[in-house]
Parts: sequence; structure tokens; C-alpha cells
Amino acid sequence: MSVLEVKNLQKFFKIPGCKPVHVLKGVDFSVKSGERVAILGRSGSGKSTLLHILGGLLKPSSGTVRRCANIGFVFQAYHLMPELTVLENVVLPTMARGMKKAKAYENASRLLNEVGLTDRIEHLPGELSGGERQRVALARALVTEPELVLADEPTGNLDAMTGAGILEMLTRLSNRKTALVMVTHSLEAAEICDRTLKLENGILV
Ligand SMILES: Nc1ncnc2c1ncn2[C@@H]1O[C@H](COP(=O)(O)OP(=O)(O)OP(=O)(O)O)[C@@H](O)[C@H]1O
Ligand SMILES: [Mg+2]
Repeated sequence: MSVLEVKNLQKFFKIPGCKPVHVLKGVDFSVKSGERVAILGRSGSGKSTLLHILGGLLKPSSGTVRRCANIGFVFQAYHLMPELTVLENVVLPTMARGMKKAKAYENASRLLNEVGLTDRIEHLPGELSGGERQRVALARALVTEPELVLADEPTGNLDAMTGAGILEMLTRLSNRKTALVMVTHSLEAAEICDRTLKLENGILV
């Protein structure tokens, strides 16, 4: 069963007075339940654009995306809520999903422990380092027990040791049948995936 199916996806950015940017020129792929897929590509090749379209955050210019209902998203720039504590940030997505409060806090605490941030749960995002914020963002993406996680460079700001811990966490996901689409520059990160695709000249190869 597939959790994601993409057909002939195209994306143009049109800005008045500028030449349109044709970023995606016909992307086709699908992801099965529990499958891990890495997407590599040069800076500016359209990886974040593709991931945003996959997650329903950006509209494609043409083509279709069929996706499962519960998706976790790790943004390249984290996008944590600055006025909420680390724990509150991680619990937040469970509210829209109607998860019981006790389970939500239990999941959030367990995930924050797994990413090594137990002693920072009462802190605000602004008091954390970049890598710590990235780990909070990962915990937040997993808290609802999604069927699919879309992650934009989840180890981009981490040292090798911490990055390896995060990759181990992502590897364990598929035991729970959670699929992963990860944009990365890291070959170590691509290695934990079942498949590696490259975004080149607007198509996946
Ligand atoms: N809102 C926008 N308006 C105009 N152009 C955009 C917009 N968003 C992205 N682009 C352009 O689309 C291209 C792809 O951007 P994107 O952020 O998807 O690249 P990326 O592969 O994620 O790069 P990086 O590895 O640096 O994160 C870039 O040339 C960028 O300038
Ligand atoms: Mg990007």
C-alpha cells in the first residue's frame, strides 16, 4: 500500500517582472508504507519545494499528489513557535489530531528524551542552539505517530555523533510502518534509506 503517489508534478514560480522559474518539470514517484526514500540534489534544485508540495504546504502548478492523512514534517528552518516551550511545541500537533492529553505528553516526553533534550523541555526555542531546535522539530514531527514523515535536511546542523543518533531514530521508524522521505546532502543519511533518488534538472532520477 502506498502512502504517497505523485504524478507528473510541475512547479513554476512566477514573479512579476522576472523570468518564471521552472523548478519541477514532471516528477513521478510513490512511497510504500514503511519505506524510506532519500532525495539528493544540489542547492536550488527544488528539494524543499518538492517536499512542501508533498506535504500539501504548497500548490503544484500541475500534476497530482495522493497522500495519506497523517504526515509529520521537519522543516529546513525548524519553524518552532517562539512563545511556546519545547514540550508545548512538541505536544501542539496532537491537539489537531484529538490525541488524549496523557498520551500526547507521554509521546512528547519520550521523543524529547530520545533526542537528548529531557533537561530542556521548559526552555523556549530561542534559548536553544540550532541543532537542539532541529531535534525538537524532529520530535514534533513524530509525536502524532504519522504514517509518513517528510524531513528536510534533518541532520543538516548536527555533528556526526548527534546526527548518527537521529538517523538511528529515523531507522527505527519503519518498524512502526512509518514511511520517510528525507531530503539530505549527507551520504550517511542516504544510507539508512531503502532508495535514493536525485533531483536533477527538475526531474527525479
Ligand atoms: N517562493 C518562491 N518564489 C520564487 N522562487 C522560488 C520560491 N521558492 C523557491 N524558489 C526557487 O526555486 C528553486 C528551488 O528552491 P528550493 O528551496 O526548493 O531548493 P533546495 O533544493 O531545497 O535548495 P537547498 O539545498 O539550498 O535547500 C530556487 O531556485 C529558488 O530560488
Ligand atoms: Mg532546501
